[in-house]
Amino acid sequence: MKYAFVLGRQPKLSLAELESVYGANSLASFGKDIALVDLDTEPSITRLGGSQKIALVLKQASVKNFEEAWPIIEKIFTEKVKNVDAKCNVGISVYGVKVSAKILQNKMIEFKHNFRKSYKTNIRIVGSGKSQLSSAQVLHNNLDQSPNLEIIAAFNRNQLVLCQTVAIQNINFYSKRDHGRPKRDARVGMLPPKLAQIMINLSGVKEFGILWDPFCGTGVLLQEALLMNIDVYGSDIDPRMVEYANVNLNWLKKNYGHNRSMQYSLSVADATKLKLEPEHKSPIQHIASEIYLGPPLRVFPGEKEIEIIKTQVDEILEKFLLNVCDQLKSGARLCLAVPVWWSKNKLLHLKTVDRLESLGYTRLSFSHANNNDLIYRRFNQVVGRELLVMKRK
Ligand SMILES: C[S@@+](CC[C@H](N)C(=O)[O-])C[C@H]1O[C@@H](n2cnc3c(N)ncnc32)[C@H](O)[C@@H]1O
Repeated sequence: MKYAFVLGRQPKLSLAELESVYGANSLASFGKDIALVDLDTEPSITRLGGSQKIALVLKQASVKNFEEAWPIIEKIFTEKVKNVDAKCNVGISVYGVKVSAKILQNKMIEFKHNFRKSYKTNIRIVGSGKSQLSSAQVLHNNLDQSPNLEIIAAFNRNQLVLCQTVAIQNINFYSKRDHGRPKRDARVGMLPPKLAQIMINLSGVKEFGILWDPFCGTGVLLQEALLMNIDVYGSDIDPRMVEYANVNLNWLKKNYGHNRSMQYSLSVADATKLKLEPEHKSPIQHIASEIYLGPPLRVFPGEKEIEIIKTQVDEILEKFLLNVCDQLKSGARLCLAVPVWWSKNKLLHLKTVDRLESLGYTRLSFSHANNNDLIYRRFNQVVGRELLVMKRK
């Protein structure tokens, strides 16, 4: 079956995640916001950080424009709701072509009237004043659950794909586990849970695998991995951080651990020197970690100051990579978030980024994204996070 994934705020990053999970060959991008993936079983949205919606593809057609597509869309709506007894909620989201919300709303109201005339059944139209329904609207109106319905009409040049939403990112759940966890620390940065999930997937670890975060801080990556049924080992140089991670993971286990095993172990350790214990050494084939990002910066402090910070972070990263290289098996895969700075629209990378080969690693490339697409940054942030995905040679 073919599924359409509605990609997140940084669509190329989402594509890299999908490529990592499903492989490059089963994946095709369809315009800027959509990826089409061939799968035998229904995918789980809770395992992905970068996809907002998942929809089952119902029909593909060649059309010149939205007007030509509308009768096909209307027919799909009718087929889907004509046998439903109870009143149901329906909505539409259009991607890849500009269509005004007003036009869309008028079309849907017309459809509702025609439908009532033909089938003597009322339906409720969920509208948003926009041409796309947000995740929150889909969620609150249960449009991902039958008999309710969200139809996604995705356009790419003269191709139309029509799909039915089957899963939606649960923003309430994200917010609850992000803001609800007892220990947070703005100074070590606040890794967004969705980015943590993307990093976990880029590290190549699968369900029931084991992941190590050697700069675990308050434990966001560990928390997200445990929720994805991955066992974790976390370490950090700062005992206070390890204590915070411990409190957070205990909270997680209490609140979300009823149906899962949630195995974790934590220790205080300097990642540049740490020798893995035998019980960790052989199973650890995947590392996902947000390393030290330097001090938080509101404004660019000048090139000289950045050079000092870069040297400091480069030293930690290089020493860490050299230290673990000998302890990992060939093929072990890492996804590290390292800092990258913005200076007058110029990117300032760590030096180590260009030295991975000589340190014993191969940087992995993606068919659907290039290296600079793997940089996560919110608007106006001075420090971004560059994701380095690599394999131990
Ligand atoms: C950007 S924070 C990671 C935040 C983390 N993702 C979280 O969820 O809170 C970087 C962490 O690296 C730790 N750190 C710095 N140098 C280290 C080293 N040499 N070995 C291990 N941890 C180190 C810091 O204590 C800090 O907690």
